[in-house]
Amino acid sequence: MAAKTTVQSFGKLEGRTVNKFTITQGAGIQVSVINYGATVTSIIVPDKTGSPADVVLGFDTLEGYIRSGKHYFGAICGRYANRIANAAFGINGNEYHLSNNDGISCLHGGFKGFDKKYWDAEVLPEENGVRFSYRSLDDEEGFPGNVDISVTYIVAGNELHIKYAATTDKATPINITSHCYFNLSGGYENTILNHQLQLNAGNILEVDEKLIPTGNMKEVRNTTMDFTEVRKIGVSDDLSGEYDNSWVLKNSSGKLEKAVSLIHSETGIKMTVFTTQPSIHFYSGHFLDGNFMDTKKGKVYGKYAGLCLEAQHFPDSPNHPGFPNTILKPGEVYAEKTVYKFSNENIR
Ligand code: BGC
Repeated sequence: MAAKTTVQSFGKLEGRTVNKFTITQGAGIQVSVINYGATVTSIIVPDKTGSPADVVLGFDTLEGYIRSGKHYFGAICGRYANRIANAAFGINGNEYHLSNNDGISCLHGGFKGFDKKYWDAEVLPEENGVRFSYRSLDDEEGFPGNVDISVTYIVAGNELHIKYAATTDKATPINITSHCYFNLSGGYENTILNHQLQLNAGNILEVDEKLIPTGNMKEVRNTTMDFTEVRKIGVSDDLSGEYDNSWVLKNSSGKLEKAVSLIHSETGIKMTVFTTQPSIHFYSGHFLDGNFMDTKKGKVYGKYAGLCLEAQHFPDSPNHPGFPNTILKPGEVYAEKTVYKFSNENIR
Protein backbone atom coordinates (compact mmCIF):
# COMPACT_ATOMS: atom_id res chain seq x y z
CA MET A 1 0.00 0.00 0.00
CA ALA A 2 1.11 3.52 -0.74
CA ALA A 3 3.28 5.41 1.69
CA LYS A 4 2.86 9.12 2.10
CA THR A 5 3.78 12.04 4.32
CA THR A 6 1.63 15.17 4.53
CA VAL A 7 2.82 18.52 5.87
CA GLN A 8 0.60 21.02 7.71
CA SER A 9 1.46 24.21 9.57
CA PHE A 10 1.28 23.82 13.37
CA GLY A 11 2.21 27.35 14.50
CA LYS A 12 5.28 29.57 14.81
CA LEU A 13 8.28 29.40 17.12
CA GLU A 14 10.49 32.50 17.29
CA GLY A 15 9.47 33.45 13.72
CA ARG A 16 9.93 29.95 12.29
CA THR A 17 7.12 27.75 11.03
CA VAL A 18 6.52 24.60 13.01
CA ASN A 19 5.06 21.94 10.73
CA LYS A 20 3.20 18.79 11.55
CA PHE A 21 4.34 15.85 9.41
CA THR A 22 1.93 12.94 9.23
CA ILE A 23 3.46 9.69 8.06
CA THR A 24 1.03 7.05 6.81
CA GLN A 25 1.59 3.66 5.30
CA GLY A 26 -1.40 1.87 3.88
CA ALA A 27 -3.51 0.19 6.54
CA GLY A 28 -0.74 0.42 9.16
CA ILE A 29 -0.19 2.97 11.88
CA GLN A 30 -0.17 6.73 11.31
CA VAL A 31 2.40 8.88 13.10
CA SER A 32 2.58 12.69 13.40
CA VAL A 33 5.69 14.61 14.42
CA ILE A 34 6.53 18.32 14.71
CA ASN A 35 9.69 20.47 14.46
CA TYR A 36 9.32 21.64 18.08
CA GLY A 37 11.32 19.19 20.19
CA ALA A 38 11.19 16.67 17.29
CA THR A 39 8.05 15.68 19.18
CA VAL A 40 5.70 12.78 18.40
CA THR A 41 2.20 14.29 18.58
CA SER A 42 0.14 11.22 17.70
CA ILE A 43 0.37 7.51 16.94
CA ILE A 44 -2.87 6.18 15.54
CA VAL A 45 -3.28 2.41 15.71
CA PRO A 46 -6.28 0.30 14.66
CA ASP A 47 -7.79 -1.43 17.71
CA LYS A 48 -9.17 -4.97 17.60
CA THR A 49 -12.42 -3.76 16.03
CA GLY A 50 -10.52 -1.77 13.40
CA SER A 51 -11.36 1.62 14.95
CA PRO A 52 -8.50 4.12 15.11
CA ALA A 53 -7.02 4.72 18.58
CA ASP A 54 -4.52 7.51 19.29
CA VAL A 55 -2.18 5.91 21.82
CA VAL A 56 -0.08 8.91 22.92
CA LEU A 57 -1.05 11.94 25.01
CA GLY A 58 -0.63 15.38 23.44
CA PHE A 59 -2.12 18.71 22.47
CA ASP A 60 -4.07 20.29 19.62
CA THR A 61 -1.81 23.38 19.58
CA LEU A 62 1.88 24.26 19.72
CA GLU A 63 1.05 26.43 22.75
CA GLY A 64 -0.16 23.30 24.54
CA TYR A 65 3.27 21.68 24.06
CA ILE A 66 5.20 24.83 25.01
CA ARG A 67 3.22 25.40 28.23
CA SER A 68 3.56 21.78 29.38
CA GLY A 69 7.34 21.91 28.84
CA LYS A 70 8.48 20.37 32.10
CA HIS A 71 6.53 17.19 31.33
CA TYR A 72 8.20 16.54 27.94
CA PHE A 73 5.05 15.24 26.16
CA GLY A 74 6.23 13.15 23.17
CA ALA A 75 9.51 15.06 22.97
CA ILE A 76 13.10 14.08 22.31
CA CYS A 77 15.16 14.46 25.49
CA GLY A 78 18.89 15.31 25.42
CA ARG A 79 21.75 16.17 25.37
CA TYR A 80 21.63 13.87 28.38
CA ALA A 81 18.22 12.30 29.05
CA ASN A 82 17.45 11.59 32.72
CA ARG A 83 19.56 12.87 35.60
CA ILE A 84 23.17 13.93 36.12
CA ALA A 85 23.97 14.24 39.85
CA ASN A 86 24.88 17.70 41.16
CA ALA A 87 24.65 18.89 37.54
CA ALA A 88 28.37 18.22 37.18
CA PHE A 89 30.85 15.72 35.77
CA GLY A 90 34.46 15.57 34.60
CA ILE A 91 36.15 14.34 31.44
CA ASN A 92 39.95 14.06 31.20
CA GLY A 93 40.46 16.32 34.20
CA ASN A 94 38.08 19.04 32.94
CA GLU A 95 35.12 19.84 35.23
CA TYR A 96 31.81 20.74 33.59
CA HIS A 97 28.87 22.42 35.33
CA LEU A 98 25.41 22.03 33.87
CA SER A 99 22.05 23.72 34.43
CA ASN A 100 20.43 22.37 37.59
CA ASN A 101 16.79 22.30 36.52
CA ASP A 102 15.78 19.45 38.89
CA GLY A 103 16.80 20.50 42.40
CA ILE A 104 20.58 20.22 42.30
CA SER A 105 20.53 17.74 39.39
CA CYS A 106 20.40 18.26 35.65
CA LEU A 107 17.34 16.52 34.12
CA HIS A 108 16.75 15.83 30.41
CA GLY A 109 19.45 18.24 29.25
CA GLY A 110 18.74 21.29 31.44
CA PHE A 111 16.32 24.22 31.30
CA LYS A 112 16.18 24.30 27.52
CA GLY A 113 17.00 20.80 26.37
CA PHE A 114 16.45 19.23 22.95
CA ASP A 115 12.73 19.00 23.77
CA LYS A 116 12.35 22.80 23.55
CA LYS A 117 14.44 23.39 20.43
CA TYR A 118 13.43 23.95 16.83
CA TRP A 119 14.62 21.02 14.71
CA ASP A 120 15.07 21.23 10.91
CA ALA A 121 13.08 18.60 9.08
CA GLU A 122 13.50 16.63 5.88
CA VAL A 123 10.82 14.34 4.50
CA LEU A 124 12.24 10.97 3.38
CA PRO A 125 9.81 9.64 0.78
CA GLU A 126 11.88 6.52 0.00
CA GLU A 127 12.11 5.46 3.64
CA ASN A 128 8.63 6.65 4.57
CA GLY A 129 9.75 8.96 7.31
CA VAL A 130 11.01 12.31 8.51
CA ARG A 131 14.52 13.19 9.64
CA PHE A 132 14.99 15.99 12.17
CA SER A 133 18.39 17.62 12.69
CA TYR A 134 19.69 19.98 15.30
CA ARG A 135 23.10 21.48 16.12
CA SER A 136 23.68 21.82 19.86
CA LEU A 137 26.39 24.44 20.41
CA ASP A 138 29.43 24.17 22.68
CA ASP A 139 28.47 25.07 26.27
CA GLU A 140 24.71 24.69 25.67
CA GLU A 141 23.30 24.15 29.19
CA GLY A 142 26.98 23.66 30.19
CA PHE A 143 27.74 20.65 27.94
CA PRO A 144 31.07 20.62 26.06
CA GLY A 145 31.38 20.53 22.27
CA ASN A 146 29.32 21.33 19.21
CA VAL A 147 27.10 18.31 18.61
CA ASP A 148 25.17 17.49 15.42
CA ILE A 149 22.19 15.29 16.14
CA SER A 150 19.61 13.65 13.94
CA VAL A 151 16.45 11.83 14.91
CA THR A 152 14.73 9.86 12.16
CA TYR A 153 11.17 8.61 12.44
CA ILE A 154 10.21 5.85 10.00
CA VAL A 155 6.86 4.12 9.71
CA ALA A 156 7.08 0.52 8.50
CA GLY A 157 3.68 -1.21 8.55
CA ASN A 158 2.70 -1.29 12.22
CA GLU A 159 6.09 -0.21 13.51
CA LEU A 160 7.53 3.16 14.38
CA HIS A 161 11.32 3.13 14.09
CA ILE A 162 13.31 5.89 15.82
CA LYS A 163 16.97 6.22 14.83
CA TYR A 164 19.31 8.53 16.71
CA ALA A 165 22.71 9.71 15.45
CA ALA A 166 25.20 12.27 16.75
CA THR A 167 28.77 13.48 16.26
CA THR A 168 30.79 15.96 18.30
CA ASP A 169 33.94 18.10 18.15
CA LYS A 170 34.78 17.64 21.90
CA ALA A 171 34.28 14.66 24.21
CA THR A 172 30.76 14.95 25.68
CA PRO A 173 28.13 12.74 27.30
CA ILE A 174 25.19 11.81 25.05
CA ASN A 175 21.97 10.09 26.01
CA ILE A 176 18.94 10.62 23.79
CA THR A 177 15.45 9.25 24.29
CA SER A 178 11.82 9.70 23.30
CA HIS A 179 9.42 10.77 26.04
CA CYS A 180 6.01 9.70 24.68
CA TYR A 181 3.23 9.17 27.22
CA PHE A 182 1.40 6.04 26.10
CA ASN A 183 -2.18 5.17 26.92
CA LEU A 184 -3.20 2.22 24.76
CA SER A 185 -6.89 2.68 25.56
CA GLY A 186 -6.79 5.46 22.96
CA GLY A 187 -7.93 8.06 25.47
CA TYR A 188 -11.07 6.45 26.88
CA GLU A 189 -9.44 5.32 30.14
CA ASN A 190 -8.16 8.03 32.44
CA THR A 191 -5.22 6.02 33.77
CA ILE A 192 -2.77 3.35 32.68
CA LEU A 193 -3.20 1.32 35.89
CA ASN A 194 -5.17 -1.34 33.97
CA HIS A 195 -2.42 -1.83 31.41
CA GLN A 196 -0.35 -5.02 31.56
CA LEU A 197 3.41 -4.67 31.41
CA GLN A 198 6.34 -6.96 30.91
CA LEU A 199 9.95 -5.77 31.10
CA ASN A 200 12.81 -7.92 29.95
CA ALA A 201 14.88 -7.12 33.03
CA GLY A 202 15.82 -8.88 36.25
CA ASN A 203 17.42 -5.83 37.91
CA ILE A 204 16.83 -2.15 38.47
CA LEU A 205 19.37 0.51 39.27
CA GLU A 206 19.28 1.35 42.98
CA VAL A 207 18.71 5.09 43.47
CA ASP A 208 18.86 7.59 46.32
CA GLU A 209 16.05 9.98 47.34
CA LYS A 210 16.96 12.32 44.44
CA LEU A 211 16.58 9.40 41.97
CA ILE A 212 20.36 9.33 41.41
CA PRO A 213 21.87 5.84 40.97
CA THR A 214 24.02 4.64 43.87
CA GLY A 215 25.99 2.42 41.49
CA ASN A 216 24.38 -0.80 42.78
CA MET A 217 21.82 -2.96 41.05
CA LYS A 218 18.87 -4.54 42.84
CA GLU A 219 17.13 -7.76 41.88
CA VAL A 220 13.45 -7.23 41.16
CA ARG A 221 12.36 -10.75 42.11
CA ASN A 222 9.56 -10.75 44.73
CA THR A 223 9.34 -6.96 44.76
CA THR A 224 6.81 -4.49 43.32
CA MET A 225 9.39 -3.81 40.56
CA ASP A 226 9.09 -7.35 39.21
CA PHE A 227 7.69 -7.21 35.66
CA THR A 228 9.59 -10.25 34.43
CA GLU A 229 6.19 -11.87 33.78
CA VAL A 230 3.39 -9.81 32.25
CA ARG A 231 1.26 -8.20 34.97
CA LYS A 232 -1.10 -5.33 35.66
CA ILE A 233 0.63 -2.06 36.65
CA GLY A 234 -1.72 -1.07 39.50
CA VAL A 235 -2.35 -4.34 41.30
CA SER A 236 -3.80 -3.46 44.68
CA ASP A 237 -4.70 -0.57 46.96
CA ASP A 238 -1.38 -0.62 48.74
CA LEU A 239 0.54 -0.56 45.44
CA SER A 240 -0.38 2.72 43.84
CA GLY A 241 1.47 2.16 40.59
CA GLU A 242 4.10 4.86 41.05
CA TYR A 243 7.24 4.02 39.11
CA ASP A 244 10.19 6.23 38.17
CA ASN A 245 13.03 3.75 37.82
CA SER A 246 15.52 2.35 35.33
CA TRP A 247 15.33 -1.36 34.51
CA VAL A 248 18.56 -2.97 33.34
CA LEU A 249 17.79 -4.89 30.17
CA LYS A 250 18.86 -8.50 29.82
CA ASN A 251 20.80 -9.43 26.66
CA SER A 252 21.89 -5.84 26.26
CA SER A 253 24.47 -6.12 23.50
CA GLY A 254 24.01 -2.95 21.50
CA LYS A 255 21.90 -4.95 19.03
CA LEU A 256 18.18 -4.40 18.64
CA GLU A 257 16.59 -6.60 21.34
CA LYS A 258 13.09 -6.98 22.71
CA ALA A 259 12.72 -4.91 25.90
CA VAL A 260 9.03 -4.36 26.74
CA SER A 261 5.47 -5.55 26.09
CA LEU A 262 2.54 -3.34 27.04
CA ILE A 263 -1.02 -4.58 26.59
CA HIS A 264 -4.45 -3.05 26.97
CA SER A 265 -6.98 -5.89 26.94
CA GLU A 266 -10.15 -3.94 26.07
CA THR A 267 -8.79 -2.38 22.88
CA GLY A 268 -6.66 -5.48 22.28
CA ILE A 269 -3.72 -3.20 21.49
CA LYS A 270 -0.27 -4.51 22.28
CA MET A 271 2.93 -2.50 22.01
CA THR A 272 6.30 -4.25 21.88
CA VAL A 273 9.45 -2.17 22.28
CA PHE A 274 12.82 -3.21 20.85
CA THR A 275 15.96 -1.21 21.51
CA THR A 276 19.73 -1.11 21.18
CA GLN A 277 19.96 0.84 24.47
CA PRO A 278 20.85 -0.84 27.79
CA SER A 279 17.91 0.28 29.93
CA ILE A 280 14.25 1.22 30.04
CA HIS A 281 13.23 4.03 32.33
CA PHE A 282 9.59 3.36 33.23
CA TYR A 283 7.87 6.51 34.49
CA SER A 284 4.21 6.07 35.41
CA GLY A 285 3.11 9.66 34.84
CA HIS A 286 2.34 10.29 38.52
CA PHE A 287 3.48 13.93 38.33
CA LEU A 288 0.82 14.81 35.74
CA ASP A 289 -1.43 17.25 37.59
CA GLY A 290 -4.47 17.72 35.35
CA ASN A 291 -3.45 21.29 34.67
CA PHE A 292 -2.97 21.38 30.90
CA MET A 293 -4.53 23.46 28.12
CA ASP A 294 -5.50 22.35 24.60
CA THR A 295 -5.28 18.64 25.38
CA LYS A 296 -6.60 16.25 22.71
CA LYS A 297 -10.41 16.07 22.95
CA GLY A 298 -10.20 18.31 26.06
CA LYS A 299 -9.11 15.32 28.20
CA VAL A 300 -7.84 15.98 31.71
CA TYR A 301 -4.31 14.57 31.97
CA GLY A 302 -4.11 13.74 35.66
CA LYS A 303 -1.99 11.30 37.67
CA TYR A 304 -1.22 8.14 35.63
CA ALA A 305 -2.95 9.46 32.46
CA GLY A 306 -0.07 8.03 30.44
CA LEU A 307 3.21 6.19 31.00
CA CYS A 308 6.67 6.62 29.51
CA LEU A 309 8.96 3.78 28.50
CA GLU A 310 12.18 5.62 27.82
CA ALA A 311 14.84 3.50 26.13
CA GLN A 312 18.11 5.06 27.20
CA HIS A 313 21.51 4.72 28.85
CA PHE A 314 21.76 4.63 32.64
CA PRO A 315 21.11 7.91 34.49
CA ASP A 316 24.22 9.72 35.73
CA SER A 317 26.59 7.49 33.72
CA PRO A 318 29.23 10.25 33.36
CA ASN A 319 29.77 9.96 37.14
CA HIS A 320 29.82 6.13 37.18
CA PRO A 321 32.87 4.69 35.39
CA GLY A 322 31.36 1.20 35.92
CA PHE A 323 28.24 1.98 33.84
CA PRO A 324 28.16 1.48 30.05
CA ASN A 325 29.99 4.38 28.39
CA THR A 326 28.06 7.50 27.34
CA ILE A 327 31.00 9.70 26.37
CA LEU A 328 31.11 10.44 22.65
CA LYS A 329 34.49 11.53 21.28
CA PRO A 330 35.38 13.46 18.13
CA GLY A 331 35.52 11.08 15.16
CA GLU A 332 32.98 8.68 16.71
CA VAL A 333 29.32 8.32 15.75
CA TYR A 334 26.62 7.87 18.36
CA ALA A 335 23.96 5.55 16.91
CA GLU A 336 20.98 4.04 18.73
CA LYS A 337 17.63 2.71 17.60
CA THR A 338 14.26 1.97 19.22
CA VAL A 339 11.25 0.31 17.57
CA TYR A 340 7.68 0.53 18.82
CA LYS A 341 5.64 -2.26 17.25
CA PHE A 342 1.84 -2.33 17.53
CA SER A 343 -0.36 -5.39 17.14
CA ASN A 344 -3.76 -6.75 18.10
CA GLU A 345 -5.91 -9.77 17.40
CA ASN A 346 -6.39 -8.63 13.80
CA ILE A 347 -3.00 -7.13 12.98
CA ARG A 348 0.14 -8.92 14.09
C1 BGC B 1 11.54 11.42 34.86
C2 BGC B 1 10.62 11.92 35.95
C3 BGC B 1 10.23 13.32 35.56
C4 BGC B 1 9.56 13.28 34.23
C5 BGC B 1 9.21 14.65 33.78
C6 BGC B 1 10.78 11.37 33.60
O1 BGC B 1 11.57 10.89 32.57
O2 BGC B 1 12.08 10.17 35.20
O3 BGC B 1 11.24 11.91 37.20
O4 BGC B 1 9.40 13.89 36.53
O5 BGC B 1 10.39 12.69 33.28
O6 BGC B 1 8.15 14.62 32.91
